[in-house]
Amino acid sequence: MEKTFIMIKPDGVERRLMGEVIRRIEKKGFNITRAELVKPSKELVEDHYAEHKEKPFFGELIEYISGKLVMAMEVEGNSAVEVMRLLIGHRDPTVALPGTIRGDFAHNLTENIIHGSDSLESAKRELNLWFK
Ligand code: PPS
Repeated sequence: MEKTFIMIKPDGVERRLMGEVIRRIEKKGFNITRAELVKPSKELVEDHYAEHKEKPFFGELIEYISGKLVMAMEVEGNSAVEVMRLLIGHRDPTVALPGTIRGDFAHNLTENIIHGSDSLESAKRELNLWFK
């Protein structure tokens, strides 16, 4: 069993998609083992996205999430990191397939409903960051 970090981003919460996202995770057979509705500090969001610090979209990304209500989750299941990335879909809306969360609900690179860790190493780091 693997654990991954999932965040329903502010647009997902505002658009009342939390139930839909949780339903898809549970229907897949995964367990939500921790969950918290939080308004993360700017420091936490900057730490979370530290690897993108030099990217041109970094500032916009930090502003979009900091201080806004998000749902932080620990999701457990077989190959949870990789399988959750498949359920989430591609970050580019022109590539995200229908049937995936982003393919069905997102059309924007920044406001794209949900985050999922991209590796087991990131999952451990992000879970430690969000669930102290
Ligand atoms: S990249 O560009 O290859 O490093 O992209 P990636 O590793 O997939 O992660 C980028 C995260 O930043 C969010 N984001 C954007 N990406 C690309 N372009 C723009 N303009 C942009 N704005 C925000 C993107 O959704 C990824 O967030 P997470 O939460 O990790 O999915």
